[in-house]
Amino acid sequence: MGSDSTIKNDKQIKENVKEVKKKVKKERQVENAEDFLFKRSIPVPDDFVKVQGIDYFQPSAFNMNAKDLVKSMRTTGYQASSLGKACEIINEMRKWRGKHISELSDEEKTKGKFDEKGYQRTTIFLGYTSNLISSGLRETIRYLVQNKFVDILVTTAGGIEEDLIKCLGSTYLGDFSLPGKQLRKDGMNRIGNLIIPNDNYVEFENWINPILDRMLIEQEEAAAKDPKFLEYGTKSFWTPSKMIARFGKEINDESSVLYWAYKNKIPILCPAITDGSIGDMLFFHTFKKSPKQIRLDIVHDVRIIDTAAIEANHAGMIILGGGLIKHHIANACLMRNGADYAVYINTGQEFDGSDAGARPDEAISWGKIKADALHTKVYVEATVAFPLIVAATFASKKPKAIRGSSRL
Ligand SMILES: NC(=O)c1ccc[n+]([C@@H]2O[C@H](COP(=O)([O-])OP(=O)(O)OC[C@H]3O[C@@H](n4cnc5c(N)ncnc54)[C@H](O)[C@@H]3O)[C@@H](O)[C@H]2O)c1
Repeated sequence: MGSDSTIKNDKQIKENVKEVKKKVKKERQVENAEDFLFKRSIPVPDDFVKVQGIDYFQPSAFNMNAKDLVKSMRTTGYQASSLGKACEIINEMRKWRGKHISELSDEEKTKGKFDEKGYQRTTIFLGYTSNLISSGLRETIRYLVQNKFVDILVTTAGGIEEDLIKCLGSTYLGDFSLPGKQLRKDGMNRIGNLIIPNDNYVEFENWINPILDRMLIEQEEAAAKDPKFLEYGTKSFWTPSKMIARFGKEINDESSVLYWAYKNKIPILCPAITDGSIGDMLFFHTFKKSPKQIRLDIVHDVRIIDTAAIEANHAGMIILGGGLIKHHIANACLMRNGADYAVYINTGQEFDGSDAGARPDEAISWGKIKADALHTKVYVEATVAFPLIVAATFASKKPKAIRGSSRL
């Protein structure tokens, strides 16, 4: 009996000890968890910026202007902050001034861009995809070109023809979900949620063909004057940028980007000019005029953009969308060992290795953007972001003289 109760007591004691150990262990774990959870920070560095959105208790929060709105976005976080940064970079590229022309050698005087007082300023390259001209962003781009706020433009074929076509017929708001089968039956074309009647392209064909005819005659006349004109080593008469300038002259319409680029002698580069309706027109034209045909020299145009980049005192890129337009500007800036400022606005992602989605840091690795350049990528649809960016930068003040009269 006695030994039985001793065994029982021992068991009980062991159980109790086990219980206590368990408790102690749990308490220690809780203590550790508390340590992990309430781990102390290092002192907050002085240059940390506090996240702060709009304070709607302030009277200034109502009916805000673009500059103030963008300023509040800068401290909001995520893409709002990137958009705010894009505005800061654009303001910096516009503000930069180098030497006065009087301090320069005769050769230096011919290179890069100067402000109206004769100081060196940044050469600004603006690139945009075709669909942005189809959208109402065309009017924002036109404003920049009309006021000579940008120096070199790069776009794709649709960015040329859609600007011209809009002078001949309208583009309409539709819906992303409109079925293609019915649209095709109705002779309507869809770009996202925009609709373009096919008649507009018929109008375009009627408009462009007599111009192509005259361009061919001018080319042949130039060749007749100089038999070696079209041979290897001599210049072609037409280049994509020369042809685009001619279209700008012929359209003679103040609502057009091409018209203002022509007026202000701002080159529009479009190395893939044939990938659109213009290409179709050029294709048919070769049959109409066979065996003669218009020749376009893209090598001459690459000299224009590369030389502009090399000679720029500072180079800034503003690139809306990706693909050809993004790389063509970045590649030109490689010739100067990198742009000094870069603002990318696009929805592209980098995980697939695409150039369209590549961040500025990838371009730094290639020498297309300088390592110490100011740069940002805003991951946003350009029609949302760019009017806001322009309102807070280029259009934050009325230009001294708005060029031309807008009838829009
Ligand atoms: N209106 C048109 O879109 C149109 C008309 C005629 C011909 N085309 C031809 O289609 C071809 C492809 O067009 P593309 O090279 O101009 O570009 P794209 O439309 O193929 O776009 C290239 C990339 O830019 C980015 N992007 C495009 N739109 C954007 C937006 N609204 N916001 C943010 N990012 C955006 C995306 O990452 C996209 O993958 C070109 O050869 C062009 O001439 C287009």
